[in-house]
Amino acid sequence: MNLENICKQVTELSAEVGSFILNERKNNLQLEIEVKGLHDFVTYVDKTSEQKIVDKLSEILPEAGFIAEEGTSTKKGEKYNWIIDPLDGTTNFIHGLSPYAISIALQEDNKTILGVVHELSLNECFYAWEGSAAYLNGKIISVSTKKTIEESLIATGFPYYDYKRINPFLKTLKFFMESSHGVRRIGSAATDLVYVACGRFEAFYEYSLSPWDVAAGAFIVQQAGGKVSDFKGENNYIFGKEIIATNQFVFNSFLSKIKTIMSK
Ligand code: IPD
Ligand code: CA
Ligand code: CA
Repeated sequence: MNLENICKQVTELSAEVGSFILNERKNNLQLEIEVKGLHDFVTYVDKTSEQKIVDKLSEILPEAGFIAEEGTSTKKGEKYNWIIDPLDGTTNFIHGLSPYAISIALQEDNKTILGVVHELSLNECFYAWEGSAAYLNGKIISVSTKKTIEESLIATGFPYYDYKRINPFLKTLKFFMESSHGVRRIGSAATDLVYVACGRFEAFYEYSLSPWDVAAGAFIVQQAGGKVSDFKGENNYIFGKEIIATNQFVFNSFLSKIKTIMSK
């Protein structure tokens, strides 16, 4: 399988679907919003985009199955599965804020081998495939070289509906506010991850995320020289609903803080 070629086709697809999303944003100031759950929204733009993505990916790799946020296809692939978020950052999108992104990963035997995150408001397409460097619009990117939490800018997401771990989470915020360059909540986990990959953030952490929020971005962080784990330092970060992603230098100190505070 020529992964470089497949990656190229996926970036072209993300550009095409991205134009659709941006056009709908421009032309429909009053987007009709469906409520999926507490503070969990979806629009016809999310659903139509996912249909376009699933249709094209089915042509690119007919044997592959799908894990797709809006449930357009539930086909299970024996070896290959795409993990798709057609619009990550829907709340930003609805409110006319940036960023928001398309996130597409490909897994072979449950291991990610390709990732594309296309952030639409700045037209920045981040991608990598197994064995490659990580790229942003054709240029190689890498994680930052900051050595300490004190010098780090840290990204996170505030829970929308799962408040079970809110108290320890608020403690982590207090700690990082007092001891780093600051904490950002930009509203798209896929974008948070690729901003770690290109060195804009030193670290990102969030709990209660889904596989489609993180699969592509986490892979791009690793290909850019960064580290990814769950809050225990283990590998269950795609389906395990908790993730940290950092540059290689701050990983141990960052993990140790999150592990200590979030396990209480
Ligand atoms: C959301 C974004 C957000 C994160 C939420 C996700 P969506 O994805 O990634 O940053 O905090 O937990 O659900 O719903 O906009 O695709
Ligand atoms: Ca998402
Ligand atoms: Ca989404």
